[in-house]
Amino acid sequence: MLKRVRAMLNVTPEKALNPADDHTMRAVVHRQYGSPDLLALEEVERPTPGDDDVLVRVHAASANSGDHHVVTGRPYMIRLSPYGGVPRPRHRVLGATMAGRVVAVGAKVTTVRPGDEVYGQARSGAFAEYLVMPAAMIARKPTNLSFEEAAAVPWATTALQAFRAGGLKPGQKILINGASGGVGTWAVQLAKALGAEVTAVCSTRNVAMVRGLGADEVIDYRVQDFVTGGARFDVMLDLVGNRSLSDCRRVLVPGGTYVPCSGGGGDWVGPLVRIVAGLATFLFSRRRFKMFVNTPNREDLEVLTALVEAGKARPVIERRYALGEVAEALAHVGAGHTRGQTILRIAS
Ligand SMILES: NC(=O)c1ccc[n+]([C@@H]2O[C@H](COP(=O)([O-])OP(=O)(O)OC[C@H]3O[C@@H](n4cnc5c(N)ncnc54)[C@H](OP(=O)(O)O)[C@@H]3O)[C@@H](O)[C@H]2O)c1
Repeated sequence: MLKRVRAMLNVTPEKALNPADDHTMRAVVHRQYGSPDLLALEEVERPTPGDDDVLVRVHAASANSGDHHVVTGRPYMIRLSPYGGVPRPRHRVLGATMAGRVVAVGAKVTTVRPGDEVYGQARSGAFAEYLVMPAAMIARKPTNLSFEEAAAVPWATTALQAFRAGGLKPGQKILINGASGGVGTWAVQLAKALGAEVTAVCSTRNVAMVRGLGADEVIDYRVQDFVTGGARFDVMLDLVGNRSLSDCRRVLVPGGTYVPCSGGGGDWVGPLVRIVAGLATFLFSRRRFKMFVNTPNREDLEVLTALVEAGKARPVIERRYALGEVAEALAHVGAGHTRGQTILRIAS
């Protein structure tokens, strides 16, 4: 009915969205696991914040490899995680990372106020015009970024948390396998900002881009093998998982740490196979195997805000899509060859 009235008046949903007079919103609805083509852009009820929550008018979101796993439900293990659900997706509206403006806050929220420009990483709901999420997962948007650029930042918490898991210190050497993707482009810049010496692995088409992000050495995996090259590292961040665990162990100095951060291992238990094999491979070694799972939080976002505002890191955005093109955006991400981040434009 609402749609028909809008059509008669020639008013787009975008123009009609006024917090005072409309309680619906457009959102990407995820009802079943499968191809991104099964996603539907629908008009749904706008969520309302609880005491610890924030209602955000979403201006932009990023479509990441993690969203693609959630959409397909593969590896199947993801269905048992807080992002999934059995037998069907638990969260009706898809999307995790976004930037926007605060519309309303819950009674207990003191960190942000209506009107603030924020960004953050939720469990779900970011591919929509409005999102409710805990204030603990939101931070002030870097002032030197647009909303679209800011939506590309939260995925960088993965790199920060990986460095923490690996115990990366200034002056140490790190190898980043998969340096050109959504996490990798941040990892290169954040490792440099931390004072590490960075060797980045990517394909030919991305060599110049990754070098431009500050990598000290770039290995083009199409022409060079990082295992047989002879260089040894204090930390290896593996965003691809395409090499054997013994190869990964070989590139580390004694006392060095391998940090796995990738899928692989098949559809059933996915990374679990590699984790179990990794623990066994490193058990009697002088090298360490340290896994982690990205945990969204405000403190890490605040670190990123400071680094971005200081000009130490910047988002790399490859493609931008309208919200209604979410299937194309996720198909692109799911193909595994993204360069930096893929952005969904939601409001201007
Ligand atoms: N543990 C966690 O909590 C966590 C959190 C976030 C992400 N992840 C995982 O981290 C991984 C990376 O995520 P992402 O978002 O950065 O992925 P992405 O955006 O899809 O990027 C993948 C990148 O890897 C490159 N690549 C493909 N094959 C390669 C190879 N053989 N050697 C080196 N680079 C290669 C691709 O470029 P080319 O095709 O041009 O080489 C692409 O730029 C994913 O597996 C994701 O599931 C884990």
